[in-house]
Amino acid sequence: MKKLLWLVSLNTSYFVLTSVTALGQQADVELQIKINKGFVLAPVPLNLVGRDSNLVGYGSYIVNAVGECNGCHSAGNPTAFAPGGNPYFGKFARTNPATYLGGGNDFGAFPDPAGPFPHIVSRNLTPDKTGRPVGGDTLQDFMQTMRTGLDPDKLHPPCVGKPDGKCIPAPFNGTLLMVMPWPAYANMTDRDLQAIYEYLSAIPCLEDNPVTTPNRCGPVAPPVTGVVTAAVAGPKGLTVQSRQFQMDGTKSISGPGGALTYLWTIPYGSPSASILGATTATPTVQLGQRGTYTFQLTVTDSKGVSATDTVSVNFQGN
Ligand code: HEC
Repeated sequence: MKKLLWLVSLNTSYFVLTSVTALGQQADVELQIKINKGFVLAPVPLNLVGRDSNLVGYGSYIVNAVGECNGCHSAGNPTAFAPGGNPYFGKFARTNPATYLGGGNDFGAFPDPAGPFPHIVSRNLTPDKTGRPVGGDTLQDFMQTMRTGLDPDKLHPPCVGKPDGKCIPAPFNGTLLMVMPWPAYANMTDRDLQAIYEYLSAIPCLEDNPVTTPNRCGPVAPPVTGVVTAAVAGPKGLTVQSRQFQMDGTKSISGPGGALTYLWTIPYGSPSASILGATTATPTVQLGQRGTYTFQLTVTDSKGVSATDTVSVNFQGN
């Protein structure tokens, strides 16, 4: 009897364990779906260098499918959608990347004759030249704003004397963000807020509208003319007797993008050979049977501009 009871209880805990795991797995699948959906929904190119891409995808899902941040943080309804992409005209919705999360949406002043009171205008959430979102926020800054609603920029302090067009009158508390739905967002989990932050770090910078910080995105680099990145593969027109020799890509030219990376490959149609050091300027190649071999050099500068060149080598040895 004792043994039977033990068996039963073992069985129950086994059942509980498996159902918890199943729930956990379901949650993982659901999260993965949201991450993927986030990447589909992002209306701008994302810079994922050095970022946690799962957080970026999930953050995009919250910002674009749940939080409706761009509804307020674009420059206003007339320019929030790309031309021909206004869903309220019955068109397929297309967000306007030129105003995406750049702020500048004016929600008007307090409708109070005792005014003048300041206009409440949504802020620029895109990263600035520091690479951090909301104009240089650290993750801690951002979480603090979202959790407390305290305006870090103190744009509209509480009125102490007469309204001066800048302060906010009681019973409103001017140290807090108005209009912004922080009382709801404050309840998000740490991971949710972290994901939003990671996503906002990955979107392109937009200048302020109207301009409050000039060159917010950094100084515009002057266009460099004349020098373009070019690949020069050598030696050209070579006939060799020996199976092994060195290629030379050192004559390649780097354009405005600076330092080059090298990649030597064997295009389709050429007999195969081995390339030792295929990502260096001067790899060693080892040939197989007699014939004409083709080698292709691709150089890429640090701005991602690529160029290619090919050489043919006629192998006459044994
Ligand atoms: C209903 C409109 C609305 C929505 C939706 C909205 N915001 Fe805001 N947000 C504002 C306004 C307006 C301000 C500026 C308020 C003020 O000046 O008092 C603001 C301010 C902010 C600030 C403070 C900016 C700073 O300089 O520190 C942050 C951060 C912010 N919003 C993030 C978000 C995020 C993230 C979302 C989506 C999850 C979002 N907002 C959705 C209207 C909105």
